[in-house]
Amino acid sequence: MKNKVTVIGAGNVGASTALYIAERGLADVTLVDIVEGMPQGKALDLQQAAPLWHRGGRLMGASDLSAVAGSDVVVMTAGFPRKPGMSRTDLLKANADIVRPAAEAVKKHAPNACVVVVTNPLDVMSWLFWKVSGFPQQRVMGMAGILDSTRFRAFLAMELNVSGADVQAMVLGGHGDSMVPLPRFTTVSGVPIGELLPPDRIAAIAQRTRDGGAEIVKLLKTGSAYYAPAMSAVEMVEAILTDQKRLVPCSVLLQGEYGMRDIFLGVPIVLGGKGVEKIVELKLTAEESAALQKSGKDVESSIAELSVAV
Ligand code: LAC
Repeated sequence: MKNKVTVIGAGNVGASTALYIAERGLADVTLVDIVEGMPQGKALDLQQAAPLWHRGGRLMGASDLSAVAGSDVVVMTAGFPRKPGMSRTDLLKANADIVRPAAEAVKKHAPNACVVVVTNPLDVMSWLFWKVSGFPQQRVMGMAGILDSTRFRAFLAMELNVSGADVQAMVLGGHGDSMVPLPRFTTVSGVPIGELLPPDRIAAIAQRTRDGGAEIVKLLKTGSAYYAPAMSAVEMVEAILTDQKRLVPCSVLLQGEYGMRDIFLGVPIVLGGKGVEKIVELKLTAEESAALQKSGKDVESSIAELSVAV
């Protein structure tokens, strides 16, 4: 197979990402993790499933970050989930210590790769990866908008009893409590959801979307969501590998767009073979714009917090 994707972190999100990529035959996959034997074991297990998917392709496991060499796309999933008693700053610092060497290794061994960052806090870790790698901004992006939008889509589909495939939604902003679901840009096969649901139901579903990750953490008790996060990352990997030019929300570096600068934030982009091919600036209402600015401020203060903590 001609494309190579390396997934850094072979936990639940990383392994599920490898599974979806291999099952679709999108690329050869290398799983990298510091836990000795785990990435090798999971890769071998997936390799043994591949004949049953009627797929070729190679799956490899590795314990050393130099295994990113030759990757077309790197998906960064390694990181700690927030543990009880851990402050936000502790998590920022702990995951920054994981992202930094990964970004250095990608810079050294896979200098032409596109990078999809999944590690939380998403927007800040994407920013850090971009800073450390020195990559052009087009080739580093965070996966969150597609996840938050697919959660909005799924909840709307459940409410309306229609196929989630027919629901299109746009959720912008940071991947956190201040994310910005945009009902005005949300439709069911082109029908605005305002035609199908009363405002209070839309508001409730938007709130459930904001709490989407937390709802799963609460149910699982240990760990957080992984199927939808992994599938969302794979949507991005596929768009890049096959130059699809998808219009999707991703966390990208803003340099004046939406009036913000030097932060990563979820906005609509055109995603293709070169990575971020265009940032799409929507005309937002005053209310939508205020919500996006607030979300941007939250990311900005986390970046400042990280700079102080390190
Ligand atoms: C979520 C966490 C993992 O949204 O970011 O599920």
